[in-house]
Amino acid sequence: MEQVIVNDVGPRDGLQNDSTLVTPEDRVRLINSLLDAGVRSIEAASFVSPKAVPKMANADQVFAALDQEAADFSALVPNLKGYELAKKAGARSVAVVLSATETMNQKNINMSLDQTISVCKEIVAQALRDGITPRSYLSVAVECPYEGMVEEQVIEGLSAMMLEAGAKEVIVADTIGAANPAQVKSLFTRLVSAFGAPTISGHFHDTRAMALANTWQALECGIRKFDASIAGLGGCPFAPGASGNLATEDLVLMLNDAGFDTGIDLNKLLRSVELTGQLVQHPVGGRSMAYLNRRTENQQ
Ligand code: COA
Ligand code: ZN
Repeated sequence: MEQVIVNDVGPRDGLQNDSTLVTPEDRVRLINSLLDAGVRSIEAASFVSPKAVPKMANADQVFAALDQEAADFSALVPNLKGYELAKKAGARSVAVVLSATETMNQKNINMSLDQTISVCKEIVAQALRDGITPRSYLSVAVECPYEGMVEEQVIEGLSAMMLEAGAKEVIVADTIGAANPAQVKSLFTRLVSAFGAPTISGHFHDTRAMALANTWQALECGIRKFDASIAGLGGCPFAPGASGNLATEDLVLMLNDAGFDTGIDLNKLLRSVELTGQLVQHPVGGRSMAYLNRRTENQQ
């Protein structure tokens, strides 16, 4: 069976935007339940200003409680300060955040596009020196909530820049869930032919119910690593219109059903969905939840 890596970004992209503040202890509980279901790649937290994103405060406490051998845990870092904090907390993998447009970088991290590029390159170089794996987000890769459509050649150019700088992977993110499968086919075909599939991963939001279709399209282009968020939590506080990420349970259902090896046990993953609902105290879950719950009841 062909392997597909599912990277759960719920503890970061999911919780950062939820109305409920979840304690570091409970964030660790959620991560441990994902591990129990077989998830082996998790974005555990971000080291960002607690004033900008209060829900991610105390990321160091989250990292301190993780068994670093248990999975590939990454930390999102927006600047050198965040990088230093992530390193101190024991992160072995960091993801820098480069948005494709001027305005999105300003709104998200208060830096111009040029400043962001140079900060991202500097973090990547430093990480390589420190033996930490650097990855790079490429946010608003199809459409920006402030500047509209983004040209494919811009994404190709920024990807080339980050890969040349030493990033091991570019995470192509449809931050506001505006992409359709035809655009994904065109963009990912281009990126795969330029850089090869193993250096690219896909990050889709489900705002318009197209995240699974977009994922399948990227899969057809050869991509074998995707972000998703447990229970479909998520959104970027600085990107109006960004709603939930593709739900991990929806992605795993599709991949397992289609004969890919994710290593994830869907029944156990449902416990993570349940825990997520308890932690955020509102109804959660992907589009397949009614079916998955029925299926579980029938198995009992
Ligand atoms: N972690 C923790 N604190 C940080 C920090 C980091 N990575 N970077 C800066 N700070 C602190 C500074 O120490 C300073 O604290 P003080 O007011 O107590 O002195 C304060 O934040 C402002 O620092 P400054 O460098 O002026 O940052 P800024 O106000 O221009 O904000 C960012 C820039 C990047 C820190 C902020 O916009 C941010 O954290 N953005 C993250 C956005 C995000 O997570 N988006 C979703 C994921 S893509
Ligand atoms: Zn996202």
